[in-house]
Amino acid sequence: MPQATLAEAIPLAIVGCGGMGHRRLGGFVELAQAGLTPFQLVGACDPDLGNANSLADEAQAKLGGSRPVVAATLDELASATEVAAIDLTTTPRFHHTIAVDAFDRGWHVMSEKPLGLTSRACQIMMQAAARNECVLSTAENYRRDPINRLGKALVEAGAIGTPRLMVHHSIGGSDGMLISVWRHQKDQSGVLLDVGVHFADIMEFYLGPATTMYAQTRLHEPVRRNRFAGKQVATDGSAGVYERWQTQMPAEFEATADDAAYATIGFASGAVASYIEDHAARGQGGWKRTIYGSEGSLDLPGDRSGRRLRIQREGSEPVDDEALYELCPDFRLDEPTARLFGGDRFFEYTNEFSTTDSKLLAVEYCDFAAAIEGEAGRPEVDGIQGARSVAMAYAWMESQVAGRAVTLDEVFDDHLHAYQADINEGLGL
Ligand SMILES: NC(=O)c1ccc[n+]([C@@H]2O[C@H](COP(=O)([O-])OP(=O)(O)OC[C@H]3O[C@@H](n4cnc5c(N)ncnc54)[C@H](O)[C@@H]3O)[C@@H](O)[C@H]2O)c1
Repeated sequence: MPQATLAEAIPLAIVGCGGMGHRRLGGFVELAQAGLTPFQLVGACDPDLGNANSLADEAQAKLGGSRPVVAATLDELASATEVAAIDLTTTPRFHHTIAVDAFDRGWHVMSEKPLGLTSRACQIMMQAAARNECVLSTAENYRRDPINRLGKALVEAGAIGTPRLMVHHSIGGSDGMLISVWRHQKDQSGVLLDVGVHFADIMEFYLGPATTMYAQTRLHEPVRRNRFAGKQVATDGSAGVYERWQTQMPAEFEATADDAAYATIGFASGAVASYIEDHAARGQGGWKRTIYGSEGSLDLPGDRSGRRLRIQREGSEPVDDEALYELCPDFRLDEPTARLFGGDRFFEYTNEFSTTDSKLLAVEYCDFAAAIEGEAGRPEVDGIQGARSVAMAYAWMESQVAGRAVTLDEVFDDHLHAYQADINEGLGL
């Protein structure tokens, strides 16, 4: 990673100053603490000027230096300061229009997941990036967790033999609101898109390209409840990043997007995944991410938990400590991740969640900067990979509507889009 001084750092604006926009400041703090300065935060852009000002104030308080300019639109931003890149953290509905506008100005874009609201929106973003020869990076953080890096190294080193089956089950949620109202609205996101793209990315990270899938999807809980509605925001430091907005959201609202997917996914390697993502289950919740191979199994913890993974090889005791390194002796974290986490390999870590979150956002920034500087193989999660995850999440819904198994390609290429039709229509696409 080149050591830019702040004066040489790439001028970047955060566009979208809600929860994730504010969380990204933690990434800047971690970068500064690690002596890394790939970007200088020059702008906070949001039509909600309360949010933009809040982010600019917090940036100045946490990072020092001059206050980022506040702007309601990209036009205002461009006339107020020099910008070379944006960190796109609006709700997904606006990702494609803002990205295209930014690319046409010659700015590079790191877009939050899901890359676009539909496969068609993703295609438009990729075309605009290519047309303007700009970098399009997808801000996908789960795979960058040092525990997932170790897990991938173990799979690549053959520690469990040839992967055959991945069981990925994430079950719970009841009728509670997942962070915000828009996450339950089909025309703005949907929980299976919001969370599903993370898991889709993780499955391809471990198993390579997915090819076919058959799924049943459901909308189990059409009325969702917000437990924060009308409450006072805690002032004792216990309030989460989102609480100030959640207290203002309705206590009860209609959900329009499917909230559960039950799928079988095939991979080009011949591996198969059993996938359950159920955000509506009542009673006992559940988490399982296990890869079974020809010589053993790899049990993976929740992303960003810092908990240990566990290898169980046929005829051997389970391994979950330093002995894991003997199974992948060449494994080392990449330089920015090692600097940010304070070591070049881990089998566990014990940070607060917010610290881990911030460090992983910092890793994303380093990857984005390396791509802008032309480093080969960067960004790690490019437009295509981000769009593949969107396609996989919609492939579950498209399979339900079509009543058949579907290929990832037909959804990625936008040939199959019955579930997405009214979303595209609403976007004018
Ligand atoms: N990777 C992760 O772990 C993670 C976690 C949370 C959110 N996200 C992603 O980040 C994005 C934002 O989510 P959030 O939770 O911060 O949402 P949010 O609702 O808290 O904030 C969205 C912000 O975007 C602003 N906005 C809307 N239209 C805009 C426009 N045209 N220009 C500029 N700003 C605009 C809104 O005013 C709001 O301030 C989503 O894509 C979400 O999926 C990722």
